[in-house]
Amino acid sequence: MTTKSKVLNDNILEINNLKKYYNLTSGILKKVTGQVRAVDDVSFNIPRGKTIGLVGESGCGKTTISKCILRAVDPTDGDIFLNNENGSHNLASLTEGELRPLRKEMQMIFQDPFSSLNPRMNLFDIVSEPLLLNGIRNRTERQDRVEELLVKVGLRSEYMIRFPHAFSGGQRQRIGIARALALNPALIVCDEPVSGLDVSVQAQVINLLMDLQDELGLSYLFVSHDLSIVRQISDQINVMYFGRQVESGTPEEIFNQSKHPYTETLISAIPNPDPDFKKKRNPILGVTPNPSSVASGCNFLSNCPEPTEECVTSTPVSIEESPGHSVLYCSCCYDEYKCSWYPRNEAE
Ligand SMILES: Nc1ncnc2c1ncn2[C@@H]1O[C@H](COP(=O)(O)OP(=O)(O)OP(=O)(O)O)[C@@H](O)[C@H]1O
Ligand SMILES: [Mg+2]
Repeated sequence: MTTKSKVLNDNILEINNLKKYYNLTSGILKKVTGQVRAVDDVSFNIPRGKTIGLVGESGCGKTTISKCILRAVDPTDGDIFLNNENGSHNLASLTEGELRPLRKEMQMIFQDPFSSLNPRMNLFDIVSEPLLLNGIRNRTERQDRVEELLVKVGLRSEYMIRFPHAFSGGQRQRIGIARALALNPALIVCDEPVSGLDVSVQAQVINLLMDLQDELGLSYLFVSHDLSIVRQISDQINVMYFGRQVESGTPEEIFNQSKHPYTETLISAIPNPDPDFKKKRNPILGVTPNPSSVASGCNFLSNCPEPTEECVTSTPVSIEESPGHSVLYCSCCYDEYKCSWYPRNEAE
């Protein structure tokens, strides 16, 4: 077990240069024909009691980061330090046996409340399963804990004997939250927890998550496509594009002082309910890259109107615009301002 310090760190999780590459294979001999860089050199911290939002289009690597944190997949490279009162543990390199006691400190809430609950188990069995697996064999003790959890997430304790089909989508997501809370975790990874719910129920579940954070001091990694929700609940937002973290900053920095063209495109795509509002469209030009062909070089190569030789060969560089606000620049733009993609280029 890797231990950095015994002092309780302000960050519950520290991700440094995380990479996850998937090999693409074909034929019965499983010959490697390509590679997808699902997560490529991503670094960020999750402070205690705070929410970090992770946004970006489908396939940009959000779920892969979540899976690496929970070690549902093994990272290709990089460190993921979980800090607790016993020190700092590098989740990326621990064995399954070393990970087991740490697993209860990190839980996940899934996107689909319909498929994430076992239809053959009643609510008591679903919520109390983690307790049983962690050695709480006394049924009365488990029953008391399940009752407490159900009340905490806004469900009635009489529902304990019902099966998942008897609940609405919002109620099922509350059951998923109760199950995630069963072992008193410190960190919850929420992978699009409200995407499958209608708007009014979304608000209720978000409010519940916020109330639980205040009450229990939880830290969240909140993955979503919905920028308005992420803006509302996050303390820090990371914007991803094809495996790379293109911009990170506070909601104010991301929404009002964004520097990266991809962030601006995402923000310009948020619908505005005012019919008289004249929207400034900021579409991405060119073609969307094939995930298996994104390797070194600028992520925006296939979208860039004037790529240079350097865009193809140089790895983009992350520059700290101000403390906590980082932007990934194509190295040619940053060094010589040649590339016309970046608004920074026009300003210089
Ligand atoms: N087991 C796998 N083998 C090969 N490629 C994979 C595998 N799992 C994920 N990928 C690829 O990794 C990339 C990132 O996938 P990931 O599921 O993390 O995206 P995401 O941002 O969560 O997308 P979404 O918003 O649709 O959930 C995608 O290009 C995906 O096709
Ligand atoms: Mg996903």
